[in-house]
Amino acid sequence: MDQFSQAILTLVSILVIFSSICYFKFLSKSAAKFPPGPWGVPILGYLPFIGADMLSKFSQLASKYGEIYMLRLGNKLCVVINSPSLVKEVVRDQDNVFSNRSPPVAAFIGTYGAKDIAWSPNNSEWRALRKVFVREMLSNRSLELSYTLRKNEVRKAIQRVYKNGKAAVEISLIAFQTELNVITNLLWGELLQGEDKEIFGKKFRAIIPKFVDLFGKTNISDFYPFLAGLDIQGIKRQTESYRQTIDRILNDIIEKHKKKLSEGVMEEGKKDFLQILLELMEQDKDSISVTQLKALILDIVAGGTDTSATTMEWTMAELMNNPTAMAKAQKELSEVVGLDNIVEEHHLPKLKYLDAVLKETLRLHPAVPLLVPRSPSQSSIVGGYTIPKNTMVFLNVAYIQKDPRLWDSPREFKPERFLGGDCDFSGNSFHYLPFGSGRRMCAGLPLAERMLMYLLASLVHSFDWKLPNDQKLDMSEAFGMVLRKSVPLVAIPNARLFYSNLYM
Ligand code: HEM
Repeated sequence: MDQFSQAILTLVSILVIFSSICYFKFLSKSAAKFPPGPWGVPILGYLPFIGADMLSKFSQLASKYGEIYMLRLGNKLCVVINSPSLVKEVVRDQDNVFSNRSPPVAAFIGTYGAKDIAWSPNNSEWRALRKVFVREMLSNRSLELSYTLRKNEVRKAIQRVYKNGKAAVEISLIAFQTELNVITNLLWGELLQGEDKEIFGKKFRAIIPKFVDLFGKTNISDFYPFLAGLDIQGIKRQTESYRQTIDRILNDIIEKHKKKLSEGVMEEGKKDFLQILLELMEQDKDSISVTQLKALILDIVAGGTDTSATTMEWTMAELMNNPTAMAKAQKELSEVVGLDNIVEEHHLPKLKYLDAVLKETLRLHPAVPLLVPRSPSQSSIVGGYTIPKNTMVFLNVAYIQKDPRLWDSPREFKPERFLGGDCDFSGNSFHYLPFGSGRRMCAGLPLAERMLMYLLASLVHSFDWKLPNDQKLDMSEAFGMVLRKSVPLVAIPNARLFYSNLYM
């Protein structure tokens, strides 16, 4: 080790020891009662024990410490909440305080300095951006007007599968492509065509899952902010590199769109979301900055595609793993839609069993298992314990949704439990929150729900599915910001409908 490295190491050690002493002093002087939790070791706290699978570790600790516990990771205090009643205190009773976020380094860099919706602190910019997104892109009217667009993309997906004959299909790939096409069509219409569109799709598919994974990585820089400059694991560097690639693509799209607008070649009366935003920016220079615009687009594309593709993959895997459930879902589709017909969105409200299948899948495999962490904007009390300002608060939805005290046979796939209709995605049942709850709940829910049901119904109605060479299904999970399947689901389709023209 050279002299310079030795000096850095000594400096870092001094800083780490100093900050840990401050932390212990803070805890011992404070009169507040903090949640129970594991102590870990001096300086590092619980960091050495957390491992790569944070979700399993958090759930083990929940079994030991109960509905709320606190742990220190380096210099950062984290609180994990594991019961519906305490979740309610956070997302309902004190929603305003807990609607704040404190993004990890990767998320901060990846979202242009938290200028997006998902990682922005609770401030007026976040409120305005979220409002524009929900009002202009996802209102009932906008979604109804864009039905043809969703239908075209779902039909293209079914056609692609059919044309490949009995070739194996990677389910998450087909779902990702379809979701990406729907979202980008809503964003900028037919701006990209043919090869351009294909290249864009391939690039995003290659980047987005890796980019999102970086946000959930255990990063030393988050737990010792004074070490952030060293970027010991290279997470900042990797995030920057992906963000730059994405930035180039987004700049190109915005320029192309502006050019098309200035040439007056946009279709009259059919404004896409980017056009609405660009017009808004022109009318009122203070409304949205270009950086916010790019962060918002990135949020929508990244937040919408990966979660939906993963959910579709888990749902198909659960159905293939439970042939009785698959048979019930197909029987319902045969009755409601008919084997001489294709699925349309107006059929969806009648598909009660399939809806229960989707809900049960999201119970067992919530796409964002710890939600997006919150960070109280002031010191608060939850469950009688003090949560200091800026603590990282995780709502352990994955644990709550499998808690045997709340769910009968919680590890079993039983869609029937959702047939009563008393539990939905609205965030009002605090033991079932796959889309979160409160002001910070998923902003894309209206689109996500429609698209998931529509594509799922079409895949299950149009084909029978089996595993290649009678392989066994691997249902293991890979923890990350998004809870993926460790082994991608690959399945062989067999056409089910009466007429081949139903696949065109
Ligand atoms: C299976 C599909 C999806 C799931 C399971 C999902 C889940 C979630 C969850 C759990 C959160 C955090 C909620 C919280 O902290 O309480 C979230 C936030 C968000 N989601 Fe989704 N999501 C999905 C699809 C989508 C889609 C399609 C879009 C956009 C078109 C989208 C856009 C967003 C945005 C913008 C946020 C940030 C909200 C905020 O912080 O104010 N999501 N989502």
